[in-house]
Amino acid sequence: MAQLETDVLVVGSGPAGSAAALALATYGVDTTVITKHGRLADTPRAHITNQRTMEVLRDLGVEEEVAAEATPQHLMGNLVYCTSIAGEELGRLHAWGTRPDRMADYSAASPTRMCDMPQDLMEPLLVHTAQSRGARIRFDTEFVSLEQDDDGVTVHVRDRLRGDEYDVRARYVVGADGGRSQVAEAVGLPLRGQMGVGGSINIVFEADLSHLVADRPSVLYWVLQPGADVGGIGAGLVRMVRPWHRWLIVWGYDIDGPPPDLTEEYALGIVRRLVGDDSVPVTISSSSAWTVNHLAAERYSAGRVFCAGDAVHRHPPSNGLGSNTSIQDAYNLAWKLAMVLRRQAGPGLLETYTAERAPVGRQVVDRANQSIADTARIFDALGLLDTSDPGLMVEHMAARKQATPEAEKQRAALREAIAFKDYEFNCHGVEMDQRYASTAVVPDGTPPEEPLRDPELYSHASSRPGAKLPHAWLTGPRRRQVSTLDLGGQGRFTVFTGIGGEAWVRAAAAVGERLGVEVAAVVVGPGQEYDDLYGDWARVRGTDDGGVLLARPDNHVAFRSAGPVPDAEAALEAALRTVLDRA
Ligand code: FDA
Repeated sequence: MAQLETDVLVVGSGPAGSAAALALATYGVDTTVITKHGRLADTPRAHITNQRTMEVLRDLGVEEEVAAEATPQHLMGNLVYCTSIAGEELGRLHAWGTRPDRMADYSAASPTRMCDMPQDLMEPLLVHTAQSRGARIRFDTEFVSLEQDDDGVTVHVRDRLRGDEYDVRARYVVGADGGRSQVAEAVGLPLRGQMGVGGSINIVFEADLSHLVADRPSVLYWVLQPGADVGGIGAGLVRMVRPWHRWLIVWGYDIDGPPPDLTEEYALGIVRRLVGDDSVPVTISSSSAWTVNHLAAERYSAGRVFCAGDAVHRHPPSNGLGSNTSIQDAYNLAWKLAMVLRRQAGPGLLETYTAERAPVGRQVVDRANQSIADTARIFDALGLLDTSDPGLMVEHMAARKQATPEAEKQRAALREAIAFKDYEFNCHGVEMDQRYASTAVVPDGTPPEEPLRDPELYSHASSRPGAKLPHAWLTGPRRRQVSTLDLGGQGRFTVFTGIGGEAWVRAAAAVGERLGVEVAAVVVGPGQEYDDLYGDWARVRGTDDGGVLLARPDNHVAFRSAGPVPDAEAALEAALRTVLDRA
């Protein structure tokens, strides 16, 4: 006999689970979260919060709160390669969209800014907001097993405080239980790839390093210290957690050997070596070991169970895509669950979750692992790969200072190798341009646009069905500046049209009423509620004034018509019926 009933049970309160709870609660879905521990994330873990995630958080109404707590973009960008924080610098890269030319790309693409929000700040914010909107959360409650039938899922859970077990009956389950997902295992999601391709240690510590970094504020400082990890290159990452007194070091260990003994003395030794200034007082907060994985699920759901986040894609922190992709998975899934639960959509809409998110997960896993491999270019340029003798490595690094043709070549090679790291630290296309192909998108027969620049490095605005609605600043009532993204989203469909598109506005009202679905209408043009005074919308919308874009609740384009059609109502109804599996 079930003891607790809920429409959606979310397992896990990490970025995926807390974002799922927030989005579902925002859409008015009866939601319960169970989470294994009696706390949220207790270490900073993931931190880079990219523009697409900030757009998601903006639509869910928490962008300002996140930005208020996060470290802003302008303090994120001087990625440094050095021999220690106090030591010699080998090179720098303007990262996270802070190079002057890239700033323009980033600010043109979105109404939001990237920021650095440690996971132990992000999770409480998302969970508290979800709770304030009605989601229930049960801490110290562990998923044990589940059974599905035609009407729902019975989930067996353990109360870790009392020690007893009980059942939760849910219409749907979201498995957001991380990299060792028992939910994904319980429903047999097919994971392809490899766990444990590398070993890492995270050391969190307090130390005021302001005097060492004030001239080059950054989130990441890469330290290369040949010999520091006994015979290896000695590459470690010093990451800013809170400017400029709280830090996290990521240090590798040999996955084929025994895990290191994480004593305070061991951690302090690594911190001292990488900081390189023994006069700085250091307090170790915590140390933990974790593994680097290269794994993605081919399918994200089975029946009424849907997995999100690390449960279905596991990869290293390079490119900072971990929690971003997890939050974006949840956002893709939540509106679909809400509409199916409200009977506004058929169950086929839920099948589009895998179709849309699994290709993104695979891309992210491959990109993050490739970025690790690409770092070898820097080691190679410094002459660290042709010997295992730390003394020789140091000599090779110093050789670049000589006045010889070889040294000039070495300097050029290092510059190029660092610039190549744009694929990790300025990878705007991967961060922003997720294009969906599924039955929740109605193709308009046009071929994909040829990207003008490298599609991984550069974001390309597109209104082709499946793409995210392009951002443009419009002027609204009382001259308020609004993004097109602000007019879409909000858990509803939105048609965007212009002067001459009145038939689409009438169609939105009529079809919305007939299908019992909210379809908002935005008319852009002189004398209308919104105007395109900069002309930017006209440049990116991909339609004529009398055409239409239908944006889904997640602000992806579901349907596009380049111009007016003889029967707008029939066209819009057919599109919505396809998207909502009500054909
Ligand atoms: P996540 O693992 O965050 O959350 C899983 C949730 O499920 C937790 O709340 C957990 O308690 C709960 N749970 C697990 N089993 C359960 C069960 N049986 N029943 C109930 N609840 C259960 N990324 C990055 O970009 N930069 C970084 O530096 C790091 N560093 C880092 C360090 C460490 C130690 C870890 C573990 C991970 C990282 N990551 C990282 C990865 C990043 O944290 C990760 O991509 C996201 O947290 C994924 O979010 P999820 O919500 O999918 O899983």
